Amino acid sequence: MAKPNQRTEFGDFQTPQPLADAVCRLLRRRGTKPASVVEPTCGQGSLLLSALEQFDTLDAAVGLDVNPDHLASVQQQLASRADGRKVRLVHADFFATDWAAMLADLPEPLLVIGNPPWVTNAQLGSLGSKNLPVKSNFQKHAGLDALTGKSNFDISEWMLIRLMESLDGRRGTLAMLCKTAVARKLLLHAWKHDFPLGAAAIYGMDAELHFGASVEACLLVCEFRPGCRQQTAGVYETLDARNSVSELGWRVGRVVANVEALDRWSHLVRGEPDEDYVWRSGVKHDCAAAMELRLADGRWRNKLGESVDIEPAYVFPMLKSSAVAAGRTEHPASGMIVTQFAVNAPTDVIRVTAPKTWAYLLAHAQLLDGRRSSIYRNRPRFSVFGVGEYTFAPYKVAISGFYKRLSFEVVGSYQDKPVVFDDTVNFLACRSKREAELLAGLLNSEPAAEFLSAFVFWDSKRPITVDVLRRLDLQQLAGHFGRTGELEQFGFRKQRRAAQKSLF
Ligand SMILES: C[S@@+](CC[C@H](N)C(=O)[O-])C[C@H]1O[C@@H](n2cnc3c(N)ncnc32)[C@H](O)[C@@H]1O
Repeated sequence: MAKPNQRTEFGDFQTPQPLADAVCRLLRRRGTKPASVVEPTCGQGSLLLSALEQFDTLDAAVGLDVNPDHLASVQQQLASRADGRKVRLVHADFFATDWAAMLADLPEPLLVIGNPPWVTNAQLGSLGSKNLPVKSNFQKHAGLDALTGKSNFDISEWMLIRLMESLDGRRGTLAMLCKTAVARKLLLHAWKHDFPLGAAAIYGMDAELHFGASVEACLLVCEFRPGCRQQTAGVYETLDARNSVSELGWRVGRVVANVEALDRWSHLVRGEPDEDYVWRSGVKHDCAAAMELRLADGRWRNKLGESVDIEPAYVFPMLKSSAVAAGRTEHPASGMIVTQFAVNAPTDVIRVTAPKTWAYLLAHAQLLDGRRSSIYRNRPRFSVFGVGEYTFAPYKVAISGFYKRLSFEVVGSYQDKPVVFDDTVNFLACRSKREAELLAGLLNSEPAAEFLSAFVFWDSKRPITVDVLRRLDLQQLAGHFGRTGELEQFGFRKQRRAAQKSLF
């Protein structure tokens, strides 16, 4: 048994035989009849062996792994099988393998099956591992624009894109156990780059049960059919499910969770940017210990348990995601120190305007100056992000980005101060209660819920993002309910610009 770090480094969590069998049974049920099978990181070969067992159409099989001990164990199991001679085992590094050449001589239809390591490059970095694509290769790789610019990515995403590229132009099936988020990124990549895909599907799989991993995982199946350009994928709850629960697809330049719902409400897709209502996120400070306060016995306390005595000028009532999600928005019991009223505004004025607050910030400078995110570099000391006129609007319509519910709340000022949110809350700024109530009413309607849920992947860490919310055209939504006039009444920016234009 490999050491724990080594196990993580190589994603060495072998697929249990019952799961491997269930995967091959499912593929057979789908009509897969491979002439050859390839398992690119075959480990101890449970999928390879299961494929030999279940597909009597096979002429050739290849298993590749970086670990010679695993290959020896596969060899041992093959020794007792008559069809063992069909199998070629290759000791090699995935990243150094020319996959198109590897597949070139194999008869079609191909089945490329497997379970690549689930580790991320950040985890590998912290282990000091070199089990990564060669950097120069990685950056030059044509099909990898989905990955560039990202600080963290799943190694399997890189591997599976390589395999997809080598299947381009071939007839076959790619069937891979992977994180569901990775499966979606692969579909995005394939659809965006017009890969010749036929049917595709995502089958839910219990990663906790099979691998002890608490992550959403699935079997991704993609049929490669030269000349085909199918851009949808059925979503099945389990490997045994016969009926899909929804259909993912490629729409409006992204992978959407439910094409049917989106097609029904396609007139609500926003084309132009909305100048009146821009979705924002709450304030980002990356220092809850010092910047977030709680009221206890009429005094502020910070998360370090210290009593905090500072001027009220920079302290705002705060609602966290959990309170917004639960609809507990009336009486915020927390506060946030907001050091700026606009991004990059000077902070040293606090020394003069609120000396006790400045002293407090200095007393916690170690925490604040030590914030790791690069966004705080070369900024005024004690800076925060996500601040602007909108932060201090008297009314907001807010939704938690974290919780698995589409529920929009009207949030008014508290004790004459605007309420601020943590950065996991998304909101629209409003100038009056009437405006906020109109917007919340529209957003909590059935059409809006259906439309938004077409974009939301509930298994994501933060399912409801500003990017998703911005897709909904509020004018069109108001039009659906015959309330365009009411909404336009509040459309102050457009009106202001129109008024300015008419002056010249
Ligand atoms: C999640 S396990 C899966 C093993 C096997 N596919 C299965 O389903 O049981 C990942 C496998 O990838 C192999 N592996 C990790 N990095 C590799 C690399 N760079 N090249 C080839 N194989 C690698 C590991 O040795 C391990 O056997």
